[in-house]
Order: sequence, then C-alpha cells, then structure tokens
Amino acid sequence: MTSDHQSNRLANGDAKGSGAAEFVPAGADLAQLRAAARKCRGCGLYRAATQTVFGTGPSDAAVVMVGEQPGDYEDRQGQPFVGPAGRLLERALEEVGIDRDAVYLTNAVKHFKFVERGKRRIHKQPGRTEVVACSAWLAAELQVVEPALVVCLGAVAAKAVLGTDFKVSERRGEMVALPAYQVIATVHPSAVLRAPDFESAYSDFVADLRKVHAAM
Ligand code: URA
Ligand code: SF4
Repeated sequence: MTSDHQSNRLANGDAKGSGAAEFVPAGADLAQLRAAARKCRGCGLYRAATQTVFGTGPSDAAVVMVGEQPGDYEDRQGQPFVGPAGRLLERALEEVGIDRDAVYLTNAVKHFKFVERGKRRIHKQPGRTEVVACSAWLAAELQVVEPALVVCLGAVAAKAVLGTDFKVSERRGEMVALPAYQVIATVHPSAVLRAPDFESAYSDFVADLRKVHAAM
C-alpha cells in the first residue's frame, strides 16, 4: 500500500476512499454512468477538483481513446481534451483522416489532480492508487462502447489498460490483441507539446495514429 493511499484514507476519515466500483451502477448506459460519476468519491481527487470529467463520444464508437486525466481546461469545462493537448490531438487526428467526433474520448482518471502554485494549478500525475480506484469507470465505459480498438495516450493510460509492466517507450505503435479488443499505445499529446524537438515528436505521434486509422 502506498503512502498516497494511506493519506487518502486518513483525509477521508474512513475506508471509503477505496475505489469507484461501489459508485458504478450496474447495467447503465453512458448517460447514466456519466451522471453517477458526478458523485464519485472513490478516491480523494474529487475534493480539490471542480467536477468529474467523464468520457464523451458515440456509444457505438469503434475506437476509444484513453488519456491520463483531465487538465486545467477540462476540469473547468467538464469535457475531456478541450485544452492545448486536445487541440493537438484533434489536429493529428484530422491529419490522418480520423473524425474526432466518431471517437469515444476518455481518461484513465476522471478528476484533475494538481498542486497549487500561486494562482496556477499545476498538473500532477495520478498515482497507481488513483488509477486503480478510477478503473471501474473506464471498465464500464469499455463494456458499454465495446470498441474494436483502444488507443492509449501516454504511459498512465497504457498501464491502466495493459498492465504496469507495459512500457510505451519500447512498445508504442504495436498492436496488442486482448480478448475483447485490440490496443495500441502511443505518447500523450502533452508530451508532444513539451518535446524539445516538436516536429519529430509530432510526426512520430501522427505515424502511430496512421496505424489506428489503418485498423479502423
Ligand atoms: N490530458 C488528458 O490526458 N486528458 C484530457 O482530457 C486532457 C489533457
Ligand atoms: Fe472517483 Fe475517479 Fe474521481 Fe477518484 S478520480 S473520485 S475514483 S471519479
């Protein structure tokens, strides 16, 4: 058990910070899941965040893309991928001929984790405890959408879907067959934005998305 988990427990004052599963209604459609996720207290992240940012997109999407967690913009607007990373993703999807609106977009963790520095809220990577706590929402989304292909954007999503041993740096762009769907992992669009050599990071990202398009 990590110290992160223990501090959530302490802060909650009881053992209730032990996962989203008890908040996930059985047999629910996406709208019902989204509504229920607003009240999730499966880990400590709901306390500082503005709102739950649930996935968006068609319930019959062939492709589900999984990010890490909402960022500052997403936290304020309540929608995934509406900030700079989302714009970069949209640009890359357009370039390879994937319609963003045909994709179900979601995150491994549904609340924004951050530290405050003055007026700014600085993104903080979710810990394993939070990813595991939140995984029941992602599992429920995948169960409803039943995609043919899941695209993991970055290491947090890849580890959430493919297990903690999976290394995006070694296996990006590789099609992995799971019983229910295929999975392909690539980097996170935020990592592309931060890359010292943007052009080469962007073209590698686009190359991975071309494989997604080819598999659709
Ligand atoms: N980064 C993510 O991983 N998800 C979002 O929704 C926005 C930025
Ligand atoms: Fe629930 Fe996930 Fe938010 Fe934690 S991050 S409170 S598990 S929705």
